[in-house]
Amino acid sequence: MEGLDLDSVLEEQDAVAPAPEFVQAAAVSDPDALRARAAEDPEAFWAEVASELDWFKPWDRAVDWDLPFARWFPGAQCNITHNAVDRHLSTWRRHKAALIWEGENGDREVFTYAELAREVNRGANGLRALGVGRGDCVTIYMPVCPQQAIAMLATAKIGAFHSVVFGGFSAEALRDRMNDANAKALITADGAYQRGKVVPLKATCDAAVADCPSVEHVIVYERLGTAVEMVTGRDRTWAELTDGQASESTAEVMEAADPLFVLYTSGSTGKPKGIMHSHGGYQVGAYATTKWVFDLQDTDLYWCTADSGWITGHSYIVYGPLMNGATVFMAEGAPDFPDAGRWWSIIERYGINILYTAPTAVRMFMRLGEEWPDKYDLSSLRLLGSVGEPINPEAWRWYHRVIGGGSCPIVDTWWQTETGSILITALPADPQKPGSAGLPFPGIDADVVDEHGNRRPDGVGGYLVVRRPWPSMLNGIYGDPDRYRDTYWTTVDGMYAAGDAAVRDADGYIRVLGRTDDVLNVAGHRLGTMEIESALVAHEAVAEAAVIGIPHEVKGEVPKAFVIAHDHVEPGADLEAELRESVAQQIGKIARPQVIEFVGSLPKTRSGKIMRRLLKAQERGEALGDTSTLDPGSIPD
Ligand code: WT7
Repeated sequence: MEGLDLDSVLEEQDAVAPAPEFVQAAAVSDPDALRARAAEDPEAFWAEVASELDWFKPWDRAVDWDLPFARWFPGAQCNITHNAVDRHLSTWRRHKAALIWEGENGDREVFTYAELAREVNRGANGLRALGVGRGDCVTIYMPVCPQQAIAMLATAKIGAFHSVVFGGFSAEALRDRMNDANAKALITADGAYQRGKVVPLKATCDAAVADCPSVEHVIVYERLGTAVEMVTGRDRTWAELTDGQASESTAEVMEAADPLFVLYTSGSTGKPKGIMHSHGGYQVGAYATTKWVFDLQDTDLYWCTADSGWITGHSYIVYGPLMNGATVFMAEGAPDFPDAGRWWSIIERYGINILYTAPTAVRMFMRLGEEWPDKYDLSSLRLLGSVGEPINPEAWRWYHRVIGGGSCPIVDTWWQTETGSILITALPADPQKPGSAGLPFPGIDADVVDEHGNRRPDGVGGYLVVRRPWPSMLNGIYGDPDRYRDTYWTTVDGMYAAGDAAVRDADGYIRVLGRTDDVLNVAGHRLGTMEIESALVAHEAVAEAAVIGIPHEVKGEVPKAFVIAHDHVEPGADLEAELRESVAQQIGKIARPQVIEFVGSLPKTRSGKIMRRLLKAQERGEALGDTSTLDPGSIPD
């Protein structure tokens, strides 16, 4: 826990109570009662939640728990796509809008549940006709559009598992993820609009697939309708895939623990980890949290501004809301293009009721000025959400006052790619404390402890852990069970350690302080310092590199690199620009260091590990703390 400045974050914020009318009408109007009931018998609680969904065969027991592996609903059979789509077809929701989409150029599409089902089925049948099926990996590299969700659902329906790769990742990052999971097919688009420019997704795919021997098929959704190069035998359009396919399709019967998706995220080593989730447990977590955290009602138009390239999109654009029969809004493009009013104009024009976004976006809009949101009627909003990083109280208050008109509860939701669904948040009927995520979700035994697992007193920082398994927890790291155990189950013996530091207040509210490992949080996206470092040292001019996060007004944190150049090169602005570009090429623009400082040496331990903590302290002008492990020879006199 060294190096964490606890005092600065401990000032108590006054709690903001939701309006009594809101509480009265809320899906959960007495959160304390729900939490108490769940805590009495969490397994029975989760089984009760699970029974609100359809299963092809019931479970024998709620969970088998053999540390660090848990198997939820053993014996049960299901398919999440049945709950997300098919089961609505026999209800009044059949012709309710499931997805409403607006492209950056003003294009519009709406899919009712019946239309969504037809398109998913045609896609599923098309994939089956190509020989894709149970246990195969389908990589999806697409912009935010209904077809991104349709590709995910079609893949899951036939028992294959998807690996969605964010469309901002480079060809090399895409290639590595496809090779790690042995992808058999890749679904992409010809391109997408971003700030008025075309993002050439298909061209990036071609570069990636050239080095992916396992990829047999590339399917191209024609988002733009522009001509792209097609490789005969390997490539076909989405229209060609689905042409002549039946609009009915049976869901593959999956065991509860069968894989639904793998999603890559950064950790403390250079190699991204493939976090695995399965049909049975994941569907229960995503379903319950969407229903209660967002207070989702059938009349709501719900907008989560994420991209399904991240876990937020998986759980809170696609699976969670659709399982609840919601109407989901999606938008392509940048939040401030063509101008800073895009989002607010969308809220006014469509009448969005629930908005779920990231603190980095809130801070960006804060800087652009309230005159932008003030031009629009935002009175349809009734609930706001925040995710991805701690929201600073100042941004919280701005979000509450300017966007929420002072009357919308804000749910600050803490969770991770690994947790699958929200684990910590004040529910909308709870008092909200700016800057604090809030209370563990019903049935979740999350707490703040020391390295031995002892509960920390109120107000004292420690490790954020979860003591007992929860349904949507990860099923492991793809192809690497040891890394799964080492990463999550060894920091505190017998508990899931999230990699975050946190502090609990007297009301039990948990405030997340930041990461305890070498992971950066750039605009709510997780990046590993080692990943960026290995991208830097891959350049011929670089001998060694160390990356730390430095504070940034809008993005929260941005990477700064310390680089030792080889003797024969001249470090300077040209090399700096070249290295930044090289990182963008290898990983993606989000990983590009903001600053590169050329240095002669890097502080290291006697065993040769770079002491990033010292670089960070030096950068902030803070005391260096414990330097007993520092190798004095590693720093210049
Ligand atoms: C890490 C997980 C969960 C979807 C987006 C990020 C940080 C996330 C919060 C929050 C404080 C948060 C944590 C966490 N984080 N939400 N509400 N308050 N910190 O998913 O990429 O898996 O990153 O994001 O550090 O461990 P992810």
